[in-house]
Amino acid sequence: MPTYPVDLSVHPDVTSFFDPDTNTISHVAVDPSTRACAVYDSVLDIDYAAGRLSHAHADTLIAFIREQRLTLEWLIETHVHADHLSAAPYIQETLGGKIGIGAKIVEVQETFGKVFNEGTAFQRDGSQFDRLFEDGDTYTVGSMTGFAMHTPGHTPACMTHVLGDAAFVGDTLFMPDGGTARADFPGGDAGELYDSIQKVLALPEKMRLFMCHDYGPNGRDIRWETTVAEEKARNIHVGSEAQGRDKAGFVKLRTERDRTLSMPRLIIPSIQVNMRGGHMPTGEDGRPVLKVPINTL
Ligand SMILES: [Fe+2]
Repeated sequence: MPTYPVDLSVHPDVTSFFDPDTNTISHVAVDPSTRACAVYDSVLDIDYAAGRLSHAHADTLIAFIREQRLTLEWLIETHVHADHLSAAPYIQETLGGKIGIGAKIVEVQETFGKVFNEGTAFQRDGSQFDRLFEDGDTYTVGSMTGFAMHTPGHTPACMTHVLGDAAFVGDTLFMPDGGTARADFPGGDAGELYDSIQKVLALPEKMRLFMCHDYGPNGRDIRWETTVAEEKARNIHVGSEAQGRDKAGFVKLRTERDRTLSMPRLIIPSIQVNMRGGHMPTGEDGRPVLKVPINTL
């Protein structure tokens, strides 16, 4: 495991945008001194029944970045999402910036290339992205240095991105009362997820943690920001030291819970698009078209 360059003296301004259709939160992290920014996990709107795309959520992000006179340097995907489509290419076309994801995307492309019976035109080398992050890789947002921490389990390519005192955890953790994300997609692993969570919880206690999803458990308002200290004290799946849930206990709980979950509503369009860096697959005539594999997922 690399030594991660944690630096709590750097404080990005984080503005977050909740998408009520998919319960996803997109974050814009800004370097206050240079006005450079990075977007973590954008959302493209889809009416799946009609096969129609729209851009209201992405346009809100674009308007914010323009109004604040920010320079967009990065569009980062914490992982290949199964519950919403990425708007990274749409935002990149408008504002520039590089699209990055974890280097293990190639494994996800291999797995789902088979699921969707993709032909040779579908490259399984991550070349749809501008940057593939390895564990411990650094990058800059203005004067700030961020790093990627490999946190597999929910998917093999999941990364937690740390920028100063802010960490974007993707689906490695939910808010303390939401627990954790499922680990039963192809390539997921509950034991790996446990180890990844321990990596996140080994960050400094004051580290701000930003979630990718929240479902407002028990009727509470939607929230997306917590700290390492809060998660260590109260996460309902990981358990506090006092409650003593060890790895075997976590794997049992996670596995039993995953057996009760149905597939996310948008998994079929999401994966086909997101494993291509947010680009639509096309049919033989070059027009965008999605497939539905039968009795495969
Ligand atoms: Fe996810």
